[in-house]
Amino acid sequence: MTHQKKLVVLGSTNIDHILNVPYFLAPGETLSAHQYQVAMGGKGANQAVAAGRAGANIQFITALGDDHFGQDALDQFQTDGIDTSLIKIIPHEKTGVALIFVNDEGENMIGIHAGANAHVTPQMLANHWDAIESADALLMQLEIPIETIQQATNHANEHGVLVALNPAPARPLPDELLSKINIITPNETEAEILTGIKVDSAGSAIQASKILHDKGVTVVIITMGKLGAWVSENGVGHLIPGFKVDAIDTIAAGDTFNGVLMTALLEGLPLQETIRKAHAAAAIAVTRKGAQPSIPWASEIDDFLMNH
Ligand code: RIB
Repeated sequence: MTHQKKLVVLGSTNIDHILNVPYFLAPGETLSAHQYQVAMGGKGANQAVAAGRAGANIQFITALGDDHFGQDALDQFQTDGIDTSLIKIIPHEKTGVALIFVNDEGENMIGIHAGANAHVTPQMLANHWDAIESADALLMQLEIPIETIQQATNHANEHGVLVALNPAPARPLPDELLSKINIITPNETEAEILTGIKVDSAGSAIQASKILHDKGVTVVIITMGKLGAWVSENGVGHLIPGFKVDAIDTIAAGDTFNGVLMTALLEGLPLQETIRKAHAAAAIAVTRKGAQPSIPWASEIDDFLMNH
């Protein structure tokens, strides 16, 4: 039997409270929603779930509150094939929360409260160095303290573990951190915040990618919504279009893309094919409501690719 490469996802878990509204509210306005949904979310958890459902050998490092949401999340992760042995329950703390508006175009606005996610500290990580060392790849986002991301990156780097960063939510990042990232996956907004280049075309994607390569990142993948993904490796870039579907809710589309991308990379697929698979998974996710309820299983991704 061949050894299945191991992915460690380090990041946040949230409970998403989602209101589907006809349009985004103006200050002072009150609006009735078509629907209210409470669903599992959080960028780290969504990416871990996407990897688990896509068939990865995946371990998730996160922190949960000691409320019933934390227990529900833990149960859900186990159902999704995730190794939960390193997940910490924080006494007297709430599980992270996201308040989300989704408009009739399927776009979203998100406010978050860290709760237990703020406890994913370098001290917590100090108990888990061996998990990171024994991984083949580490995937992170930016909903946990930045010092934790920096230390995990340093440690993974020293041990030859591939480091992938989905730099969401958008924020500037120190060059020292970027110099140790092997794969970065910003969307257009995040790419602009990291590079100062407004990314809206192949030309601007080349410029932004060059800045990130010059800072030391090997592979730059800029997700550009309906246009697809700009993929730049060793300075050579091209656009890989996505699939055209009727999007009703884009929550976790990027997370699904990232989780499936890393799963496919660790399976040994060429970069081009991993992006196609990640695009397929994200295309399925945008046709369904919510974060984790929208994330497909491997068989659904395979069926989609056969039919498109
Ligand atoms: O990327 C989508 C996620 O962002 C949501 O699930 C929400 O929890 C926020 O973290």
